[in-house]
Amino acid sequence: MSKIIFSIETSCDETSVAILNQQCEILSHLNYTQKDHKVHGGVVPEIAARAHLQILQKIIPISLKKAKLRMKDIDIFCATCGPGLIGGLLVGSSVAKSMAIAQNKPFYPINHLEAHILSPGFKFNMRFPNLTVLLTGGHTQLYYVEGITKYKLIGETVDDAIGESFDKVAKLLNLKFPGGPEIEKIAKSGDENKFNIPHPFKSKKNLNFSFSGIKTAINLMVKKRKVVDYGFKKDLAASFQKKIADIIEQKIIYALEFLNEKNKKIVDISIVGGVAANKKIKSRLINLCKKNNFRLIYPQNEFCGDNAAMIAKVCIEHNKFNFNSNIDFRPNPRLIILNSIKI
Ligand code: KG4
Ligand code: ZN
Repeated sequence: MSKIIFSIETSCDETSVAILNQQCEILSHLNYTQKDHKVHGGVVPEIAARAHLQILQKIIPISLKKAKLRMKDIDIFCATCGPGLIGGLLVGSSVAKSMAIAQNKPFYPINHLEAHILSPGFKFNMRFPNLTVLLTGGHTQLYYVEGITKYKLIGETVDDAIGESFDKVAKLLNLKFPGGPEIEKIAKSGDENKFNIPHPFKSKKNLNFSFSGIKTAINLMVKKRKVVDYGFKKDLAASFQKKIADIIEQKIIYALEFLNEKNKKIVDISIVGGVAANKKIKSRLINLCKKNNFRLIYPQNEFCGDNAAMIAKVCIEHNKFNFNSNIDFRPNPRLIILNSIKI
């Protein structure tokens, strides 16, 4: 009989629970974006941790009701154990562990980044090896993915993460948090060639990213400007977004050359994480993939940002034959992917 998986995601400001069966069918999935951070222009860890606990208490019974299940029908409990904000990780994993103990069922810890990597699996049949471009609020990484649990890190940001740079630029332009969707919105009517935005590591064949210089350059542009009106904002947002798309495109081209030199073949290119929801970036990459005869895979929008369904998916993929328990696993804000080897 198909087993039932219950998952919790609380690594940042999204409180999410999901119930899936072993065929990865979603029986219920509830996401709650915490709103209390908006006034602070960024996520406040202490507020996030407290809010996770309050929200989980409300949404767990609702999720069971929606799935028409009782707690005792769950076969395995899992939760994000890192990377992320430690307060949230402790809350989510402790709640899931407590449920597992109360039901005498296994608890399985999940790495948040691996969940993003496998998130296109809700839409596409994932084939390996692939090149995964992970674009979130906390990470910007390139992985050569040989298969499930076989992830090789080949490049990453040396300073800010890509989503963080969207958020910081949005803040400079006095836009709402989170900044990514706001920048995308106003960039639609902006002139993407209006401003010259720096392109870090452009001349070097480097698989690492850097975004802090872009933020500094935009800060200077804003400070120099007498009137920061809507016209200026939309042109700057469009120019920034175009530069980000240029950077990702260039890194993918370098990564393809690098993998080719190492005789590592790939079948697909995958973009995942909150920033993968950006239509402009996605359409640029769809064209790039077409030109180079690769399929571009990505999660549906609802699975780009943080969500518990992708957490349950990792649990299912890791426990195909029997359910392992690791209730002693300690949440780790800097958790790396097991087997992730930099090549
Ligand atoms: O993957 P995610 O939900 O959380 C982390 O694991 O960090 O990513 C959140 C990030 C935020 O920085 C947000 O501004 C960005 O994803 N984001 C976007 C878009 N939607 C969300 N960035 C650019 N364009 C978007 N449409
Ligand atoms: Zn995430």
